[in-house]
Amino acid sequence: MQTCLACHQADGSGVPGMQPALRTDSTVMSDPDRAIEVILRGIGGAETAVPASGEYAMVMPASMHLSDEQIANLISYIRQEFNGSSPIEPDKVRAVRDRLE
Ligand code: HEC
Repeated sequence: MQTCLACHQADGSGVPGMQPALRTDSTVMSDPDRAIEVILRGIGGAETAVPASGEYAMVMPASMHLSDEQIANLISYIRQEFNGSSPIEPDKVRAVRDRLE
């Protein structure tokens, strides 16, 4: 609600051309490591961010300040709420964070 809703919307529907829908996002469902990485690094804009796809007018800010548990909770929420997928553990976030540092 505090960090993602403004762009991706409460129901995860996104805004066409601005930011993608999360309710149908294949990254969160099938490649949680990449989802963790884009949340930590952001997308587009900053030099440390994951390169933008060029499909959206907005860039996504980095959220390095969120804890492993907060990011695991976020991804688990998106997976369970919109797709009925299994939750992920904070250890998985820690592993990606360690790889990036
Ligand atoms: C300022 C707007 C903004 C905020 C805030 C934001 N995002 Fe994004 N997000 C974007 C944009 C824009 C893209 C698509 C960027 C691109 O593909 O070029 C995106 C893409 C994504 C993707 C898809 C990445 C991929 O490659 O498939 C995920 C997952 C995601 N965001 C999750 C989140 C989560 C979780 C949060 C909260 C921590 C968040 N976003 C906050 C704008 C935002």
